[in-house]
Amino acid sequence: MKRAALLLLLIASGITFAAERFGLGTPASADDIARWDIDIKPDGAGLPPGQGAVSEGVGLYDQLCLACHGENGQDGQYDQLAGAPVPEEFATTFVKRTIGNYWPYASTLFDYVRRSMPQTQPGSLTDDEVYALVAYLLYLNGIVDADAIMNSESLPRVEMPAQSRFYWSDEVAHLR
Ligand code: HEC
Repeated sequence: MKRAALLLLLIASGITFAAERFGLGTPASADDIARWDIDIKPDGAGLPPGQGAVSEGVGLYDQLCLACHGENGQDGQYDQLAGAPVPEEFATTFVKRTIGNYWPYASTLFDYVRRSMPQTQPGSLTDDEVYALVAYLLYLNGIVDADAIMNSESLPRVEMPAQSRFYWSDEVAHLR
Protein backbone atom coordinates (compact mmCIF):
# COMPACT_ATOMS: atom_id res chain seq x y z
CA MET A 1 0.00 0.00 0.00
CA LYS A 2 2.76 2.39 1.00
CA ARG A 3 4.71 1.61 -2.11
CA ALA A 4 1.70 2.22 -4.33
CA ALA A 5 1.16 5.59 -2.67
CA LEU A 6 4.79 6.52 -3.17
CA LEU A 7 4.62 5.47 -6.79
CA LEU A 8 1.51 7.59 -7.35
CA LEU A 9 3.21 10.55 -5.73
CA LEU A 10 6.22 10.14 -8.00
CA ILE A 11 4.02 9.90 -11.10
CA ALA A 12 1.96 12.93 -10.05
CA SER A 13 5.00 15.05 -9.38
CA GLY A 14 6.47 13.89 -12.69
CA ILE A 15 3.33 15.09 -14.50
CA THR A 16 3.37 18.44 -12.67
CA PHE A 17 7.05 18.84 -13.51
CA ALA A 18 6.43 18.04 -17.19
CA ALA A 19 3.46 20.43 -17.36
CA GLU A 20 5.52 23.25 -15.89
CA ARG A 21 8.60 22.52 -17.92
CA PHE A 22 6.84 22.26 -21.28
CA GLY A 23 4.16 24.89 -20.60
CA LEU A 24 1.26 22.47 -21.09
CA GLY A 25 -2.34 23.43 -20.31
CA THR A 26 -3.90 26.49 -18.69
CA PRO A 27 -5.86 26.76 -15.44
CA ALA A 28 -9.63 26.47 -16.02
CA SER A 29 -11.34 29.85 -15.57
CA ALA A 30 -14.67 30.28 -13.77
CA ASP A 31 -16.19 30.79 -17.23
CA ASP A 32 -14.73 27.50 -18.54
CA ILE A 33 -16.09 25.64 -15.54
CA ALA A 34 -19.54 27.26 -15.87
CA ARG A 35 -19.79 25.98 -19.47
CA TRP A 36 -19.25 22.40 -18.27
CA ASP A 37 -21.32 22.68 -15.11
CA ILE A 38 -24.71 22.15 -16.77
CA ASP A 39 -26.05 18.99 -15.13
CA ILE A 40 -29.67 18.99 -14.00
CA LYS A 41 -30.82 17.02 -10.99
CA PRO A 42 -33.96 14.85 -10.78
CA ASP A 43 -35.67 17.55 -8.67
CA GLY A 44 -35.01 20.12 -11.42
CA ALA A 45 -32.10 21.88 -9.69
CA GLY A 46 -29.97 23.47 -12.40
CA LEU A 47 -32.79 24.08 -14.89
CA PRO A 48 -32.22 27.42 -16.64
CA PRO A 49 -34.74 30.27 -17.12
CA GLY A 50 -36.84 30.17 -20.29
CA GLN A 51 -39.76 28.13 -21.54
CA GLY A 52 -41.19 26.26 -24.51
CA ALA A 53 -44.59 24.97 -25.62
CA VAL A 54 -45.61 21.72 -27.29
CA SER A 55 -46.76 23.74 -30.32
CA GLU A 56 -43.26 25.23 -30.69
CA GLY A 57 -41.60 21.85 -30.31
CA VAL A 58 -43.42 20.26 -33.28
CA GLY A 59 -41.70 22.40 -35.93
CA LEU A 60 -38.29 22.12 -34.25
CA TYR A 61 -38.62 18.35 -34.02
CA ASP A 62 -39.61 18.00 -37.67
CA GLN A 63 -36.71 20.17 -38.74
CA LEU A 64 -33.94 18.88 -36.44
CA CYS A 65 -34.85 15.42 -35.13
CA LEU A 66 -37.28 13.65 -37.46
CA ALA A 67 -34.61 12.54 -39.92
CA CYS A 68 -33.07 10.27 -37.27
CA HIS A 69 -35.94 9.54 -34.86
CA GLY A 70 -38.87 9.25 -37.30
CA GLU A 71 -42.27 10.86 -37.44
CA ASN A 72 -43.80 11.17 -33.96
CA GLY A 73 -40.66 9.63 -32.45
CA GLN A 74 -41.24 6.24 -34.07
CA ASP A 75 -39.91 4.13 -36.94
CA GLY A 76 -36.79 6.25 -37.31
CA GLN A 77 -33.31 5.06 -38.10
CA TYR A 78 -32.23 5.56 -34.45
CA ASP A 79 -33.73 5.32 -30.96
CA GLN A 80 -37.51 5.17 -30.72
CA LEU A 81 -38.62 8.07 -28.50
CA ALA A 82 -42.36 7.42 -28.07
CA GLY A 83 -45.19 4.97 -28.68
CA ALA A 84 -44.39 1.93 -26.52
CA PRO A 85 -46.47 0.94 -23.48
CA VAL A 86 -45.14 0.62 -19.93
CA PRO A 87 -45.07 -3.16 -19.38
CA GLU A 88 -46.42 -4.71 -16.18
CA GLU A 89 -43.26 -6.74 -15.60
CA PHE A 90 -40.33 -4.64 -16.68
CA ALA A 91 -37.58 -7.10 -15.89
CA THR A 92 -39.09 -10.00 -17.83
CA THR A 93 -40.95 -8.36 -20.72
CA PHE A 94 -39.10 -7.26 -23.83
CA VAL A 95 -40.17 -3.82 -24.99
CA LYS A 96 -38.57 -0.98 -26.87
CA ARG A 97 -37.28 1.45 -24.28
CA THR A 98 -38.68 4.91 -24.90
CA ILE A 99 -38.91 8.13 -22.93
CA GLY A 100 -42.43 7.25 -21.84
CA ASN A 101 -41.78 3.75 -20.56
CA TYR A 102 -38.23 4.03 -19.30
CA TRP A 103 -37.11 7.48 -18.17
CA PRO A 104 -37.68 8.07 -14.43
CA TYR A 105 -37.39 11.90 -14.47
CA ALA A 106 -38.50 14.52 -16.99
CA SER A 107 -35.70 16.89 -15.92
CA THR A 108 -33.13 14.37 -17.19
CA LEU A 109 -34.65 14.70 -20.65
CA PHE A 110 -33.79 18.41 -20.66
CA ASP A 111 -30.23 17.64 -19.57
CA TYR A 112 -29.79 14.93 -22.21
CA VAL A 113 -31.27 16.82 -25.16
CA ARG A 114 -29.40 20.03 -24.33
CA ARG A 115 -26.02 18.37 -24.02
CA SER A 116 -26.19 15.76 -26.78
CA MET A 117 -28.82 16.42 -29.46
CA PRO A 118 -29.11 16.83 -32.41
CA GLN A 119 -26.37 14.25 -32.59
CA THR A 120 -24.52 16.06 -35.36
CA GLN A 121 -24.62 19.43 -33.52
CA PRO A 122 -24.75 18.86 -29.77
CA GLY A 123 -25.01 22.02 -27.67
CA SER A 124 -26.49 24.06 -30.53
CA LEU A 125 -30.03 24.41 -29.13
CA THR A 126 -31.15 27.42 -27.07
CA ASP A 127 -32.71 26.74 -23.67
CA ASP A 128 -36.15 27.79 -25.01
CA GLU A 129 -35.78 25.34 -27.90
CA VAL A 130 -34.86 22.52 -25.51
CA TYR A 131 -37.90 23.28 -23.32
CA ALA A 132 -40.13 23.23 -26.44
CA LEU A 133 -38.66 19.94 -27.70
CA VAL A 134 -38.99 18.35 -24.27
CA ALA A 135 -42.62 19.52 -24.10
CA TYR A 136 -43.31 17.94 -27.51
CA LEU A 137 -41.54 14.67 -26.63
CA LEU A 138 -43.56 14.40 -23.41
CA TYR A 139 -46.73 15.12 -25.40
CA LEU A 140 -45.85 12.40 -27.96
CA ASN A 141 -45.59 9.99 -25.02
CA GLY A 142 -49.02 10.98 -23.74
CA ILE A 143 -47.54 12.46 -20.54
CA VAL A 144 -48.54 16.14 -20.97
CA ASP A 145 -51.41 17.86 -22.82
CA ALA A 146 -51.15 19.59 -26.20
CA ASP A 147 -51.24 23.02 -24.53
CA ALA A 148 -48.46 22.26 -22.02
CA ILE A 149 -45.66 24.77 -21.45
CA MET A 150 -42.41 23.55 -19.93
CA ASN A 151 -40.14 25.70 -17.77
CA SER A 152 -38.08 25.31 -14.59
CA GLU A 153 -41.30 25.20 -12.51
CA SER A 154 -43.49 22.87 -14.57
CA LEU A 155 -40.90 20.36 -15.81
CA PRO A 156 -39.85 18.93 -12.42
CA ARG A 157 -43.54 18.48 -11.55
CA VAL A 158 -44.11 16.11 -14.49
CA GLU A 159 -44.38 12.60 -13.10
CA MET A 160 -42.92 10.02 -15.45
CA PRO A 161 -44.79 6.72 -15.86
CA ALA A 162 -41.63 4.69 -15.16
CA GLN A 163 -40.58 6.55 -12.01
CA SER A 164 -41.77 3.79 -9.67
CA ARG A 165 -39.69 1.26 -11.63
CA PHE A 166 -36.49 2.63 -10.15
CA TYR A 167 -35.00 2.61 -6.70
CA TRP A 168 -32.09 4.62 -5.35
CA SER A 169 -28.89 3.37 -3.85
CA ASP A 170 -25.60 5.25 -3.45
CA GLU A 171 -27.22 8.20 -5.21
CA VAL A 172 -27.72 6.18 -8.38
CA ALA A 173 -31.11 5.10 -9.79
CA HIS A 174 -31.43 1.34 -10.42
CA LEU A 175 -34.14 -0.51 -12.34
CA ARG A 176 -36.46 -2.68 -10.25
C1 HEC B 1 -28.03 12.39 -36.82
C2 HEC B 1 -29.03 11.61 -36.14
C3 HEC B 1 -29.75 12.23 -34.96
C4 HEC B 1 -30.41 13.44 -34.90
C5 HEC B 1 -30.55 14.50 -35.99
C6 HEC B 1 -31.01 13.50 -33.59
N1 HEC B 1 -30.71 12.37 -32.88
FE1 HEC B 1 -31.34 11.91 -30.99
N2 HEC B 1 -30.27 10.20 -31.03
C7 HEC B 1 -29.49 9.77 -32.09
C8 HEC B 1 -28.78 8.57 -31.69
C9 HEC B 1 -27.82 7.77 -32.56
C10 HEC B 1 -29.15 8.32 -30.34
C11 HEC B 1 -28.63 7.21 -29.44
C12 HEC B 1 -27.40 7.74 -28.77
C13 HEC B 1 -26.83 6.80 -27.75
O1 HEC B 1 -27.45 5.81 -27.38
O2 HEC B 1 -25.70 7.08 -27.29
C14 HEC B 1 -30.10 9.34 -29.97
C15 HEC B 1 -30.73 9.40 -28.75
C16 HEC B 1 -31.69 10.34 -28.40
C17 HEC B 1 -32.46 10.33 -27.17
C18 HEC B 1 -32.33 9.28 -26.06
C19 HEC B 1 -33.22 8.11 -26.35
C20 HEC B 1 -33.24 7.12 -25.21
O3 HEC B 1 -34.31 6.78 -24.70
O4 HEC B 1 -32.13 6.69 -24.78
C21 HEC B 1 -33.26 11.43 -27.18
C22 HEC B 1 -34.25 11.84 -26.11
C23 HEC B 1 -33.01 12.12 -28.43
N3 HEC B 1 -32.05 11.43 -29.15
C24 HEC B 1 -33.63 13.29 -28.82
C25 HEC B 1 -33.33 13.98 -29.99
C26 HEC B 1 -33.88 15.29 -30.30
C27 HEC B 1 -34.85 16.07 -29.44
C28 HEC B 1 -33.36 15.65 -31.52
C29 HEC B 1 -33.58 16.92 -32.28
C30 HEC B 1 -33.20 18.15 -31.62
C31 HEC B 1 -32.48 14.56 -31.95
N4 HEC B 1 -32.49 13.58 -30.99
C32 HEC B 1 -31.79 14.55 -33.15
C33 HEC B 1 -29.40 10.35 -33.33
C34 HEC B 1 -29.93 11.57 -33.67
